[in-house]
Amino acid sequence: MENVLVTGGAGYIGSHTCKALSQAGYQPVVLDNLVYGHDWAVKWGPLEVFDTSDSASVETVIKRYEPIAAIHFAAYAYVGESVTNPAKYYRNNVIGTMKLLDALYAGGVDKLIFSSTCATYGIPDGETISELQPQRPINPYGHTKLMVEQILRDYDAAYGLRSIALRYFNAAGADPHCEIGEDHNPETHLIPLVLDAAGGKRDNITIFGTDYDTPDGTCVRDYIHVTDLAAAHLLALEMLKNGNKTDAYNVGVGHGCSVREVIDAARRLTGKKIEVVEGERRPGDPPFLVAESNRIRDEFGWEPSYSSLDSIVETAWSWHQKHFIND
Ligand code: UFG
Repeated sequence: MENVLVTGGAGYIGSHTCKALSQAGYQPVVLDNLVYGHDWAVKWGPLEVFDTSDSASVETVIKRYEPIAAIHFAAYAYVGESVTNPAKYYRNNVIGTMKLLDALYAGGVDKLIFSSTCATYGIPDGETISELQPQRPINPYGHTKLMVEQILRDYDAAYGLRSIALRYFNAAGADPHCEIGEDHNPETHLIPLVLDAAGGKRDNITIFGTDYDTPDGTCVRDYIHVTDLAAAHLLALEMLKNGNKTDAYNVGVGHGCSVREVIDAARRLTGKKIEVVEGERRPGDPPFLVAESNRIRDEFGWEPSYSSLDSIVETAWSWHQKHFIND
């Protein structure tokens, strides 16, 4: 069985990708410091608990498992915190990644898939975003991801490390078989917070801004089911194995839902009353973040299967009840 090194494989998107890898016949070897990840989410291969910046330990793991490629999820991803504590973000997301790359190079691993983000685009010019849009991040988190994209292009040219950066839009939902799902601490994302309100863990959900220039005044996002996102990583791996050149792709569904639409879907699908507070805008939130995703569809043959808003909210709610209410 071929091994794939998965940094951050105990996290939300990482663990769903490990499941997809395992289903496709790979063994995911998870490297995670468990600062935000969960050991219960590592079910499909070994777990090595240390930091990606610990090059010596990463090299030892590479020698032991001889992975054919690496998928690099490990990063800090709280946009607000990246503004107040940028050092933490540049140190972990950029320097930590460079140290990982040193270890990959020393160990002869020459294929990498990298978690990038739509936050590298900043405030988009239009309502949808293609890969050709200028990348102008508006927070340190987005800058760290953009820096790594640049580093990866240079490392390919100089050292032959081929990579695919996937620029995620809003990952949401949970494994349809309810084995794993979202569990952030602290939680800041809309859908789990709305479900907290449905499940009685919080009194209400605050809508951050109702006066945007959008159809219902609330922000519009491209919610992509985490299982569809995981599938994109698997296709990226196959593309790299088949010689795909270093590149970056948007991974979104290509249509947006507003905050009010998400709340309405959650009310309908949970059958619960969800109280709303209309609050101020959250600084740094663009009105629209919606992908143009034709490149990944055309070049990888990727098609989302679970990314209707109903399927996202339904799977997230099943997970929420199992993990936060029944456990
Ligand atoms: N929102 C609320 N109330 C909340 C939480 C969120 O109204 O309590 C709104 C936000 O203002 C935003 C939408 O719901 O309009 C989605 O917010 P999330 O925090 O769930 O997601 P973001 O769009 O802010 O963040 C996502 C990714 C980040 C990435 C960012 C790019 O999760 O990793 O897109 O801007 F950096």
